[in-house]
Amino acid sequence: MKSGELKKLFFDFFKSKGHTIIPSASLIPENDSTVLFTTAGMHPLVPYLLGEVHPGGKRVASVQKCIRTGDIDEVGDDVHLTFFEMLGNWSFGDYWKKEAIEWSFEFLTKVLKLPKEKLAVSCFVGDSDAPRDEESSKVWEALGIPKNRIYFFGKKDNWWGPAGITGPCGPDTEMFYWTGEGEPEPLTTGDNKSGWVEIWNDVFMQYNKTADGRFEQLKQKNVDTGMGLERTLVVLNGKQSVYETELFVPIIDALKKRATSYYDERKVYIVADHIKAVCFLIADGVIPGKEERNYIPRRLIRDAMTVHYLFIEGSINVNFFLEPVNKVIEIYRNDYPELLNKKNNILSVLLKEAEDYSEILKLIRDVSDLRKLYNDFKPKKVWPTNNKPGEIDLSGKSLFDIRQSLGVSWAQMKMVAEKGGYIFSLETEEEYNESYKKHQELSRTASAGKFKGGLADNSEEVVKLHTVTHLLHQALTDILGGTVDQKGANITPERLRFDFACPRKLTDDEIANLEKIVNQKIKEELPVHFELLTVEEAKAKGAHGIFEDKYAQLGNKLKVYFIGDYSKEICGGPHVKNTREIGSFKIIKEEASSAGVRRIRAVIK
Ligand code: ALA
Repeated sequence: MKSGELKKLFFDFFKSKGHTIIPSASLIPENDSTVLFTTAGMHPLVPYLLGEVHPGGKRVASVQKCIRTGDIDEVGDDVHLTFFEMLGNWSFGDYWKKEAIEWSFEFLTKVLKLPKEKLAVSCFVGDSDAPRDEESSKVWEALGIPKNRIYFFGKKDNWWGPAGITGPCGPDTEMFYWTGEGEPEPLTTGDNKSGWVEIWNDVFMQYNKTADGRFEQLKQKNVDTGMGLERTLVVLNGKQSVYETELFVPIIDALKKRATSYYDERKVYIVADHIKAVCFLIADGVIPGKEERNYIPRRLIRDAMTVHYLFIEGSINVNFFLEPVNKVIEIYRNDYPELLNKKNNILSVLLKEAEDYSEILKLIRDVSDLRKLYNDFKPKKVWPTNNKPGEIDLSGKSLFDIRQSLGVSWAQMKMVAEKGGYIFSLETEEEYNESYKKHQELSRTASAGKFKGGLADNSEEVVKLHTVTHLLHQALTDILGGTVDQKGANITPERLRFDFACPRKLTDDEIANLEKIVNQKIKEELPVHFELLTVEEAKAKGAHGIFEDKYAQLGNKLKVYFIGDYSKEICGGPHVKNTREIGSFKIIKEEASSAGVRRIRAVIK
């Protein structure tokens, strides 16, 4: 069966069950700021899962283009892809488990004619957040799935979402098809369900995960399903791998044409996967760059080039991209006309990035180049010499330096090593990860410094607003209880803006109360001072803030500001000497900043 036919069968089926077919949304999520990319059909639908009215009604179905970067190391095996399409049907507070499961079953066994003997399903086993899903398993039993093919697993297997930190989620029931040899084996927990391919997932989105980790009931019970288009094609066509489907073969053939004798199949799959994902990303406006989202096409292009150079063609020639890109466009031009419309743009962006990277790639032809490069950067470093045979004698720290200066990723360096017949030792990998973590903490601190500590403007007004921000933070903690997680702050001489994790709007009473508390503390004429404390001391005193922040550290100590004994917060300052200097505090607005994050704007008069 071809992809177009499968899509048509799916849409016709769900139309007959009262669903409106909606188009695929962009890969850049517009309705869900908790994720970088659309990773599932539900992202464009988050507002409707939360209770907004969808113009298409309470039942919709779609095929959604998706990007998942979490599985990037698995790409090239039989089932993992960076770009894929997801078929899905949704109920916004309409039908529930019985209908959803019955329709999934009907579609699989009656429309696609998959034998039910080759199916297994799993349901949620239950925990302190949600009960065991007997309801779903009863429906499966009634449909004739034998009890020994109905499995119960925990959250890791049978709970979906939220995709980001907060948002709609719930227990799910997953459907697997046996593609292994002989009699189906028992289904196991975890990712590697050998012989079984997960083809469909029905999620019962009944909960909203809040920023403080609670699962609260949503206004309505929703169904969110996802069926992997490529995987289903594998099953329907008796193939082994998603790379053997019509959605890949022409791209792979184009790559193989240029291969010298030493190509290895999986490496070709990786390049094909990456080129396809990059075409879709650029078509949706994600161009290669340094920022989080833009880094993905950059990384995919670089990885594709490295693999292609080292394992496929054996020389650097950016033109190898041309034919595979044309094939991607041919395959998808009808379903995703944006690819054809943006063809010139896709090619010029991709080739420009590829040209830039080929200059770097030329420097790292093999392991000795990595060594040489490192020596060029850090001539004083002494190499560790006691490595085991076969393990490359480069320290993780030095490899991280190469990453930082050239933008060559760990995966790319690993490939260079692999090509030379080497592996990095576990110690090297740990050391690399350690350097990476340290770097991330530093850059987080740098951006945290933008709103805390690193106040560029020390005008009187800004300093007053800064102190009042600490009072506001503590007052929020008083009112909301627990700890209030600061998500950002921004102060100009005119106003303060304070973002904090909170799943709901504050009430008018709460806002009035916040103002009252802060003004009361101002009136109390509290003295402000700071102390330098160790992390342990600061924690013991109950100070708010990011303990790892480097900007606030002097030696091993953190700078902690005290306002009377009311507020204690790790901060670089500066602050007023006494709250009496502040004036009166007024909240101008309380609004949503992003999912699960509220924003307060306030002034002093
Ligand atoms: N959102 C669910 C998934 O991606 C259906 O598996």
